[in-house]
Amino acid sequence: MTLSRRTFLAVAGGTGIAATLTGCGLEASPGQTAELLRSETPLPDPFKVPLPIPPVKKPIRTDSNTDYYRVVQKKASLEILPGLRSEVQGYDGLFPGPTFDTRSGRTIVVEQVNQLEVPTVVHLHGGHTPAASDGWPLDLLNPISGHDHGHMDMSGGDQKTGSRTYTYPNTQRAAALWYHDHRMDYTAPQVYRGLFGLHLIRDDEEDALPLPRDEREIPLVIADRAFAADGSFRYPAAKDGPGVESAYMEGVIGDVVLVNGAPWPSLEVKAARYRFRILNASNARRYELALDPGRPLIQIGSDGGLLGVPIEHDSLVVAPAERFDVIVDFSKYQPGTEVTLLNKLAKDRTGQVMRFRVTGRITDDTTIPAKLSSYAEVPEPAGVVRRKWAFRRGNAGDHIGWTINGKAFDPKVMQAEVKLDQYEVWSFVTDVHHPVHVHLAPFQVLSRGGKKKPGPYDHGWKDTVDIQPAEVVEVLVKFTAHKGKYLIHCHNLEHEDMAMMAAFRTT
Ligand code: C2O
Ligand code: CU
Ligand code: CU
Repeated sequence: MTLSRRTFLAVAGGTGIAATLTGCGLEASPGQTAELLRSETPLPDPFKVPLPIPPVKKPIRTDSNTDYYRVVQKKASLEILPGLRSEVQGYDGLFPGPTFDTRSGRTIVVEQVNQLEVPTVVHLHGGHTPAASDGWPLDLLNPISGHDHGHMDMSGGDQKTGSRTYTYPNTQRAAALWYHDHRMDYTAPQVYRGLFGLHLIRDDEEDALPLPRDEREIPLVIADRAFAADGSFRYPAAKDGPGVESAYMEGVIGDVVLVNGAPWPSLEVKAARYRFRILNASNARRYELALDPGRPLIQIGSDGGLLGVPIEHDSLVVAPAERFDVIVDFSKYQPGTEVTLLNKLAKDRTGQVMRFRVTGRITDDTTIPAKLSSYAEVPEPAGVVRRKWAFRRGNAGDHIGWTINGKAFDPKVMQAEVKLDQYEVWSFVTDVHHPVHVHLAPFQVLSRGGKKKPGPYDHGWKDTVDIQPAEVVEVLVKFTAHKGKYLIHCHNLEHEDMAMMAAFRTT
């Protein structure tokens, strides 16, 4: 038989799964469905390195309505931990990749060149993207000179070699999207090694607001990792012995928190308002972000752009793939104050994320408007189509792993045919934590845990929703414009690779 990550689990996974089910992973990591992978190198002191800002990607040419870009996926040796080198596989060799800063309604065309040794797939997460550019997991971009083309039967995808062009119409409101690898069965290790980056969309509605901008609008891309003694990334692999991968089927969390690719960085801030574009790019870790000392985190946007009105939070739970657009007002602190961004879900070193050092006062002409956007809640239409998606551990044929509606991902099977331009109510049901993501369209959360209202972190247009163990969340979704094959999946990337993904077709 052919061996893939997935069939590997079926062959060798029995003991690992039993250990995981009854094991200590959940107690060791409260609030997590995941297993901790420890670094083999001493952890660096926190708050020593400055926060890096990923460079903004420049187009290679532009015309009246389109900007053209070229990205090279390649290896690079970067100093992530002080004094050590880590080999990354990144967009333009960066970790995270460059930030795309784009306009709503203005098409961008990205030529991706694969100089790695493995096939890749690029997906724009949160994008309203035609199916041919959405990053179907078998639409591979093969390396020019590769050897590992995977072991799966990869027929059925639209394969290209060397380079591939993705077209993003950006026909959507301003929002923080992100792009990342989506190769079938290998998304988790490929994102872990660096294939992820931010993609911002701006529009006139947002530009008109008096929000902090330029050097006071800062991306915070948070991702945890574990490192080997030589500085390379640690990640469970089949070659490390039977059961090693399956022991981590609940998800991989590391013991080092990186922000924009730097461990526990620090940032000097003026005593003024800042806008933080927060992305949790971790494979499996969720964070509960809070300031120490002080409060609040003022949320102005979510995955799908601005909220209608700002919401104050004492803390913010951010699941993998979620984005939060947040204002922090440092004018409330005395110059000289050190403010730590905490992760209240952890008691170890990952309980800290980064530090802000408040410097001098400046005149701040920004404000947080009481009304941010024309966002409105859509009432549930009468007679709406309803679908249920159950996210559970399970067996399906020779597959032991994660399933949706009892099925392991099969690219040949469409689990639903969904009509464009009409609302549907989808309910997501879980056994353990699953951050559920839907491609192509954003949704509004209607109810959580039986209460007929969203949870505290569910406001606005979302494309990923964090579902607690044994919970039901209902969302209202409507797909528009693009017919084709799309995905719904768990964004715990180990769950996704172990088949917690389903295809549907829009018609
Ligand atoms: Cu962020 Cu289908 O993924
Ligand atoms: Cu997506
Ligand atoms: Cu999951």
